[in-house]
Parts: sequence; C-alpha cells; structure tokens
Amino acid sequence: MDLEFITTYYQFFLSGTINTVLLAFFSVLGGTMVGVILALMKLSEKKPVKFLASAYIEFVRGTPLLVQLFLIYYGLPHIGIDLPDMVAGIFAVSLNSGAYVAEIIRGGIQSIDKGQMEAGRSLGMSYKMTMKEVIIPQAFKNILPALGNEFIVIIKESAIVSVIGIHELMYKTDVVRGITYKPFTPLIVAAIIYFVLTFSISKFLGIAERSMRASD
Ligand code: ARG
Repeated sequence: MDLEFITTYYQFFLSGTINTVLLAFFSVLGGTMVGVILALMKLSEKKPVKFLASAYIEFVRGTPLLVQLFLIYYGLPHIGIDLPDMVAGIFAVSLNSGAYVAEIIRGGIQSIDKGQMEAGRSLGMSYKMTMKEVIIPQAFKNILPALGNEFIVIIKESAIVSVIGIHELMYKTDVVRGITYKPFTPLIVAAIIYFVLTFSISKFLGIAERSMRASD
C-alpha cells in the first residue's frame, strides 16, 4: 500500500476531521437542546403537548437521516430561509439527534424510583422543586454517558452530510480519491480516523462513568 499521499494530502484529512468533530459537537449540543424540550413535552400532563412530541420523535426515528437532510437542505430555501451549508447540516443533524436525545432524557428521568418523587412531595417540596433538586441530579448520571454515546453515533452519522457538499472527513476523502485516482487507500485512512475518534471518546466515557460511580 502506497501511503505517500498521506504526507502530501494530510491537510485534507486534517481539515476534514476538524469539520467532522465541529459538526458532531454542535449537532449534539443542538440535539440536546431539542431533546430537553421534547422530553419535557413528553413528560407533560397535557395530551396535545405530549402527542406533538411523540409524533415528532416517531417521525424522525421512522425516516432516514438522508431524507431529513434533503428536506431541510432543499426545503428551507423554498420558504425563504437560506442557510450556509454547514449550518443547514448542523441544523438537520441536530433535529435528528434531538429525537434520540429526548428518549435518552426521558428514560434517564423515568429510571429514577418513583419513591424519590413521593419522598420529596411528602417533605413538602413542590413537583418542580423535587424534579430540580432530587430527580434531575440523579437522572444526570444515567443521561450523561448516553449523551456521550450519542456523540459517537453522530460522528459516524455525520458522514452523510458529505452529500450536500459539507467539507467534512468523508467529503475530503472523496476529494483525495479524485485527485490521486486511488479509490481505496484514502478510505482506509478515513476509516482509521473515524475509529480513532470514536474509540478515544468511548474510552474517555468509560473512565468518566467509572469515576461517577465511585462518587456514589
Ligand atoms: N442512520 C440513521 C438513519 O438514517 C440515523 C440514526 C441517527 N441516530 C441517532 N442516534 N441520532 O435514520
């Protein structure tokens, strides 16, 4: 295998990797905001609010990310909203991730024994206060590792935004394939970079999780 092109084209891979990480980071951030709102809506007592959140989550989880990406990328200009490609990409992936994060948060909150809420209420605390002071801090320990997992998923899924021309790792890999006429080797490099990214995050998450458990 001739890897000489790495020394020649490493900047392509480097800038692609940076864009992939940025895209994933901001998408998970956006996804977390969307997810918190959706999770609160789903936990609400009001039926229509609950229904709206459920419908959104089911739709997002039941359609391909590629279709959602195209809907946003080609749909927004139709209604007069022109976003830069990178922003449109982050927007689409955030909206997708939000649906998954909502379930992570809801699951995290519902995994807390309902005796905790009852104890808080019987001590005279309001529903809101018990949520804030008792339930959420405990749920956090379940939610945080799962959010880290979502980051890993999004790093991998972000490869799809190369189809709308965002210069992330997969896009740059294709550029190098085009310049060098090497159809295969640049893909190996991309695979290794993706793996190093996801594997180090996963190792880091493992350490963080263990130290959180130790503090229990
Ligand atoms: N590949 C999946 C799809 O096309 C995207 C899954 C996104 N997953 C996530 N946890 N955000 O539908």
